Amino acid sequence: MRIAVPAETAANEARVAATPETVKKFVALGADVVVQSGAGIGSGLLDGDYEKVGARIAADAAATVKDADVVLAVRRPEASALSGVHPGAAVIAIMDPYGQQEALQRLAGAQVRAFAMELMPRITRAQVMDVLSSQANLAGYRAVLEAAAEYGRAIPMMMTAAGTVPAAKIFIMGVGVAGLQAIATARRLGGVVTATDVRPATKEQVESLGAKFLAVEDDEFKQAQTAGGYAKEMSKEYQAKQAALTTTHIAKQDIVVTTALIPGRPAPVLITAEMVASMRPGSVIVDLAAERGGNCALTKPGEVVKTENHVTIIGHLNIAGRLAATASQLYAKNLFAFLETLIDKESKSLKIDPQDELVKATLLTRDGAIVHPAFAAH
Ligand code: NAI
Repeated sequence: MRIAVPAETAANEARVAATPETVKKFVALGADVVVQSGAGIGSGLLDGDYEKVGARIAADAAATVKDADVVLAVRRPEASALSGVHPGAAVIAIMDPYGQQEALQRLAGAQVRAFAMELMPRITRAQVMDVLSSQANLAGYRAVLEAAAEYGRAIPMMMTAAGTVPAAKIFIMGVGVAGLQAIATARRLGGVVTATDVRPATKEQVESLGAKFLAVEDDEFKQAQTAGGYAKEMSKEYQAKQAALTTTHIAKQDIVVTTALIPGRPAPVLITAEMVASMRPGSVIVDLAAERGGNCALTKPGEVVKTENHVTIIGHLNIAGRLAATASQLYAKNLFAFLETLIDKESKSLKIDPQDELVKATLLTRDGAIVHPAFAAH
């Protein structure tokens, strides 16, 4: 069984899908691992580090994937980059499948079995494979550091001979995995932290981290969580009440980190242009939802915007990738944990059970067709 790890091709993607730690484990399972030269460098990993644990280094992408049974990647590879893999090869990555019908069709046409790691069910058995959590946690941490670096004042309260510096007020909007880590990081830095979410379960989580919870707690709020633990899209009425509450609060904040997402939908707009205009000069917004359109109306995905009233809006894409070494370490472990379940230890080959709930949830393509019910043509 050959496992290929091509270098990522997207701009600003410094992560890599396998680390020497996971390659060593694959080799121990009897796999032959091929890593493209330079694939790990963005994460501080040299070709020699992979060679030491038994990987072979290939000079280019085509040589890397040739005869592969498994291709591990961070982002969805182009079907054209998969020519030469064995028919039915498993291609495992963060596939970003929503609205990408043509790309999925091309993957199907390449006769591979494409698995989307972000569709992993959130059940106990699969926690170790949960890439949304492993990456969002780092993104939440990094977002606060990005804000702190941009903010022209200190975060903690400081009492010095030259005067007292007030603590920064930090507001976290959306308290999922990223938001919780953002709250914890902002507290560690000494900020005065408030947070909001539409899911009632978050209130206690926010308070247990020493932050104050702020939300419109009406009947709709009490029903806002799906069985899967995600948020629903809120009604226009709720959004208006939420905006009224947010408007007065945001005007007093120094740093706002937004993380609100609804699976498969554009990110909800929580900060309007008027709210940004009400903020003080020097305030900073970090929009972690930039990749999905943004939670702030003025966010420009991939850019840092300075508004007329001197508010900075950070819309970096792939914030977890700005901590590439740690993000790769955790992502690679997520992949290992999943792939291990697809390998038959006796025959040392791939054995994919289509009835397994992890396979059912993540498998996008098979035998030339899109097979995932959420993406198959109806
Ligand atoms: P996410 O990335 O989908 O969304 C981030 C946050 O935005 C969520 O908390 C959501 O409620 C919030 N949000 C959505 N619309 C909003 C709005 N209009 N205003 C304010 N906030 C809004 O969420 P994530 O991080 O994936 O977490 C979702 C849930 O899954 C959480 O309950 C988390 O604890 C749970 N989880 C469970 C796991 C497991 O059981 N294995 C693993 C990881 C997370």
